[in-house]
Amino acid sequence: MPPPVFHSPSLPALVAALFLVIPMPNIHAQPASPDSVSAKPFGKTPDGRIIQLYTLVNGSGMQVNIATYGATIVNLLTPDRVGHLADVALGFGAIEPYFTQSPYFGATVGRYANRIAKGRFAIDGKTVQLAKNDGPNHLHGGLKGFDKQLWTAQVLKQSPPTVRFSRLSPDGEEHYPGNLQVSVTFTLTDRNELRMRYEAQTDQPTVVNLTNHTYFNLAGAGNGNILGHQVRIHASHYTPIDKTFIPTGEIRSVAGTPMDLRKFTTIGANIEAVGGQPAGFDHNYVLDRCPVIRPALAAEVFEPRSGRMLKVYTDQPGIQFYTGNFLDGTIRGKRGKVYHQHDAFCLETQHFPDSPNHPNFPSTLLKPGQAYRTTTILKFSAVTGAGA
Ligand code: BGC
Repeated sequence: MPPPVFHSPSLPALVAALFLVIPMPNIHAQPASPDSVSAKPFGKTPDGRIIQLYTLVNGSGMQVNIATYGATIVNLLTPDRVGHLADVALGFGAIEPYFTQSPYFGATVGRYANRIAKGRFAIDGKTVQLAKNDGPNHLHGGLKGFDKQLWTAQVLKQSPPTVRFSRLSPDGEEHYPGNLQVSVTFTLTDRNELRMRYEAQTDQPTVVNLTNHTYFNLAGAGNGNILGHQVRIHASHYTPIDKTFIPTGEIRSVAGTPMDLRKFTTIGANIEAVGGQPAGFDHNYVLDRCPVIRPALAAEVFEPRSGRMLKVYTDQPGIQFYTGNFLDGTIRGKRGKVYHQHDAFCLETQHFPDSPNHPNFPSTLLKPGQAYRTTTILKFSAVTGAGA
C-alpha cells in the first residue's frame, strides 16, 4: 500500500485557514455612529487665556463650531437640497475680531439679552444701575457681557455630540446682583437640530434673559442679502417700541400691519414698510404658543435658491426678529466677505425687552432656590418649497 502523500499547504491556504479559526474584526463594518466632538486651540483672550474651538459633527451632514469665548457659534455648516454644505452663520475666521468688532455674531448673550431702559430697574425696592452701552439704554448684558467672557467646556457625549459651556457670573458682574451659575448645553442631533439648553441658578434675586445671537444667511454667510428669504413667525402680537427701541408696554396685534408674518412672507417685501432708522425688522414678537412645556415652533425661514429651511422651536415667550439693519459694510468676516445691511437675520428667542420695568410682561426675576431652564432648537432641512 503506497504511503499516504501529505502535501504541504500553500501560504494562501494557511492564511485562509487562520481566518476560519481566529475571529477577525469585520473590516468592512461601519463605525456605530459617525458623530464626533473634538476641540482645538483657537487663540487666546486679551489677558492670555487659551480659547478652544469645539467641533460637533453628526452623521447627517451638519457641522457646528463653538468657541469657549462667548460660547459663540463660529460656523454652522448645513446641506442644501443637493447636499452641498454652506456655512450659514456670519462671523470671523479667527478669534481676535470677536474681541472688538463683533455685533454679537453667534454669541451667547446675557445676563440680560436685549435692552433695559436707562440700564435701571428695581428688585425688592432696591435700584440696580447697569451700564448704558446703547445710547441711553443697557444692551445685551453691558460692556463685558457673557459674549465677552471665557466659558468652561465639557464634552458630555460623543453621540449625539453634546458639549456644555458653563461659567460663574460673579455677584456684581456688570452690576447685576447675585452669583449666577450658568450653562448652555449644545447638542447636534442626527435630525440636523442644534439644541441649546440654558440653565442658571442664583444666590440672590436677579434678572436673567439668555439667548443666542447667530446671524443667519441660508444662502451662505457673505453670499448676498436675505431680502429674498421667506419668513413666518407664529405670533399674532408684538411689543411696539420707542425711538430708542424700548417697549412702550403695549402688546399690539400684528393684523393688517407689515409686522404680520403669520404667513410666509418675503423679507424684502415688508422691510421698508416696517420703518426704523435704519429700516428693517428689529422687533420682539409675542409668541402664540406660550406658555409651553416643550419647545414649540416659533419661526421658520426658507431660502428658495438653496432650498435651505430653518425652523426655530422654543419654550420662551418672545423672539427678536432682527434683519442686520446695523451691518454697514465696515465688517470683513470669514473668507474676506464684507457684511452689508440686511446680509443676515437673527431670531433671538428670549423674554421681552425691558421686562424688569414692565409688570405686565412675563417675569425675568430669578430667586435663590429657583432653576432657570429653557431650550431652543434650530432645525435645519432642505426642501423644495416654504411650508414643506
Ligand atoms: C438688537 C439690535 C442690535 C443688535 C446688535 C439685536 O438683538 O435687537 O437692535 O443692534 O442686536 O447686534
